Amino acid sequence: MGENPSREDSTSVIRVRPAREADIAAVAAILVEGFRSKFEAAFDERVDRAESVVARTLALGASRGLAGLFVAELEGRVAGTVALRRQSDPDVPEWDSAGILFSELGLWGGLRAMFYFSLLDQPCGRQEVYVSDVAVAAPLRRRGVGQALLHHAEKVARTWSKSALVLDVTAQNEAARQLYRRLGYTEQRLRRSLLARWLLKEGEWVRMRKDLT
Ligand SMILES: CC(C)(COP(=O)(O)OP(=O)(O)OC[C@H]1O[C@@H](n2cnc3c(N)ncnc32)[C@H](O)[C@@H]1OP(=O)(O)O)[C@@H](O)C(=O)NCCC(=O)NCCS
Repeated sequence: MGENPSREDSTSVIRVRPAREADIAAVAAILVEGFRSKFEAAFDERVDRAESVVARTLALGASRGLAGLFVAELEGRVAGTVALRRQSDPDVPEWDSAGILFSELGLWGGLRAMFYFSLLDQPCGRQEVYVSDVAVAAPLRRRGVGQALLHHAEKVARTWSKSALVLDVTAQNEAARQLYRRLGYTEQRLRRSLLARWLLKEGEWVRMRKDLT
């Protein structure tokens, strides 16, 4: 996939490109910062292991060239990330990711985290691209990085000959919902989970969709 320079202002350019192995540590740090409350819920007092778990889990995809993982660069550093997947993409073997959780968190901590993360998994259709893990480093937000990542996601979806992008956003995440609405996503349906509300402290997600014309 080609690079996608987009002008933020007269001095800095945001460039979105496929992630490389050397980006993994930066991507893990951005994801843990962006989704801190989810990691705190899933890992409890072992939240200090979150970056290591995420980095090792991402590295499992390295043999496939980190397919579907993209980063935005701003001022020469990794500023944000997005993950894209198709229904037909192979899953990371469950035993490999479980092994990482067990080795970092122990047996019960690993099982608990697996169960919590399973509450977040959502499917997508054959003609859709599923957008997840959209996150921008906190000091670099409100500078167009999120928007640049999502514009790139549209380009990738067209290259894959898909007709829509879909995602799930926590109902209370007003910043992200505003970003998606602004880019033409519409809110499709609300999903509620009492179990997720109890365990993750977040129990409502909005499915959003953008049809590509
Ligand atoms: C949501 C997130 C990715 C936005 O990234 P960003 O780089 O700051 O977004 P952009 O600068 O491209 O913002 C584009 C537009 O989105 C909207 N927006 C972004 N952040 C907003 C906020 N905090 N409040 C209100 N609107 C916001 C605005 O319309 C903004 O345009 P403007 O700055 O001209 O007003 C970022 O806040 C983040 O990483 N949050 C934590 C992780 C997360 O919640 N990810 C989404 C999961 S579904």
